[in-house]
Amino acid sequence: MKKIIIAIDGYSSCGKSTMAKDLAKTIGYVYVDTGAMYRAVTLYALQNGMFKEDKVSGQSLINEPELKNAIHQGKIRITFKVNQTTGAPDTYLNGQLVESEIRQMEVSSRVSPIAALPFVRELLTEQQKAMGREKGIVMDGRDIGTAVFPEAELKIFVTASAKVRAQRRYDELLGKAKTREEAEVLNFDDILKNVEERDYIDTHRETAPLRQAEDALVLDNSNLTKEEQKEWLIKRYEESAR
Ligand code: DC
Repeated sequence: MKKIIIAIDGYSSCGKSTMAKDLAKTIGYVYVDTGAMYRAVTLYALQNGMFKEDKVSGQSLINEPELKNAIHQGKIRITFKVNQTTGAPDTYLNGQLVESEIRQMEVSSRVSPIAALPFVRELLTEQQKAMGREKGIVMDGRDIGTAVFPEAELKIFVTASAKVRAQRRYDELLGKAKTREEAEVLNFDDILKNVEERDYIDTHRETAPLRQAEDALVLDNSNLTKEEQKEWLIKRYEESAR
């Protein structure tokens, strides 16, 4: 089998990361979660007071010049290190483990506007291209098959209905809640709204919007079991790497 690049794109919360991680582990490839990189930039902006709440719209506004400066001064360093327990890479921001922080609602609700900024995309796309030089990589995101690796040997576009995705996200957050209070604040409608908002921003932004590459294979997993999905993926991998 030759070493290839596997690009997995699709909507948020459709199980891309779990699927990509599992595939990489099975075939001995490196896994890169590019969403985690956009989330880490968002966390940096939050930690450094770069968001301001707009009192009229209630929206979070980002101080773009400040973030741009931080990026140009090399103040945001994102790295991955394999977690010996899970076998999957954890995300580090400037040497600090941030895997759990970047999954919080505080970050999730602000990441799409950050991912729409051309100077953020430029920086991260460059780093992602460098990670794929040796091939043998499974990378998941929104623009991997279109902008990062348009030459990838295998491109998969994953989709599922917004309701199915919101339910999965709700279940995941519920599973992670450590206290009753944490579980009680979870609201399905808020999560569904967040999923739909992110879909809108991700597909309508000017730079590298989420769209299916012409040569991508579509995987709608609304009604697939994990096993069926894995079987489908392994088959596609074997066909492409042969
Ligand atoms: O996959 P995720 O939910 O962790 O992604 C977080 C955000 O980052 C989401 O709003 C889409 C954006 N993103 C992107 O624009 N391009 C990528 N390659 C990966 C994620």
